[in-house]
Amino acid sequence: MDLKQEILKILENNRGNSVNGARIAEMLNVSRSAIWKNIKQLQKEGHHINAAPNRGYCLETSNDILTAESISPYLQDKARNFHLDVRKSVTSTNTLAKEMASEGCPEGTVVIATEQTEGRGRMGRSFYSPDSTGLYLSLILRPKLDINDSLLITTSAAVAVAQAIEKLTSQDVQIKWVNDIFMNGKKVCGILTEASLNVENGGLEYAVVGIGINVTTKNFPKDIEEIAGSIFSEKPDNQPITSILAAELLNNLSYAMDNLTDHSYLSEYKKRSFLIGKDIYVLKGKDTLSARAIDIDYRARLVVEYPDKSIEALSSGEVSVRINQN
Ligand code: BTN
Repeated sequence: MDLKQEILKILENNRGNSVNGARIAEMLNVSRSAIWKNIKQLQKEGHHINAAPNRGYCLETSNDILTAESISPYLQDKARNFHLDVRKSVTSTNTLAKEMASEGCPEGTVVIATEQTEGRGRMGRSFYSPDSTGLYLSLILRPKLDINDSLLITTSAAVAVAQAIEKLTSQDVQIKWVNDIFMNGKKVCGILTEASLNVENGGLEYAVVGIGINVTTKNFPKDIEEIAGSIFSEKPDNQPITSILAAELLNNLSYAMDNLTDHSYLSEYKKRSFLIGKDIYVLKGKDTLSARAIDIDYRARLVVEYPDKSIEALSSGEVSVRINQN
């Protein structure tokens, strides 16, 4: 950790309270002017730090710049084992995490960004990721999982996201199979899981689960403005809401990713299902089939019934579904 991060960590741990410059200098065994220079740098980076003569430095409660130091105080138990790699602007946290995973980066590394310039979604779509209004993160996993069970990762992450959003907003959240999170009828989060196969044993070499949450994003591009929404209309006062959301999500993910194969989380997934009981269209290649969504099975596949009463369990890679509004 460099000096600037050490100072930020001290200020984070005393958020809303002043810490004397001489005291920080003493704690870190450096000069007061080194502290002052680094504080200036942090302020330049946008951190709201008040510097009052005789009282010292105070990180404002509303400061909501994502850093490892701003997230850490809210992490519990196992989530503290995650290695947080927090960046300002990246092309895509998934792209970066995949590169890192293929170079051997360990499980539990989380790439988090304030902005993505080439955020990606499923089916080759882009994911709108403007600066400082969303949470964009990718977690590297090395699960002992059969490729056929990789849907468990996305669906389990969806429950982790849903529960984190519900805790922070006190509002109900719905999950549209397989990877979309809705609030008040608008999509507020998407999940993209990408994996590399180990050809020798047919298992997964690594998986990257990428999660994008619109926290206060507004002015969505024309093509998604009808469907996209955010979990807050404005940032709540006096709390680092994006950092708290990140930590809450990581707390849930640390538990969820260790319990993928006990399948018990699927009841939480089904409880929030947007599709079960609805008439839908199943888009398979060039075909569009009418069906009714009737269940999510133990492998997290969407079970549908066609008009001829035949039943099929769908995996996400092969299909996309639309609600039949008629
Ligand atoms: C979708 O809606 O189809 C999935 C969107 C997934 C977006 C997240 S944001 C973090 C991670 N990085 C990306 O490029 N994509 C995922």
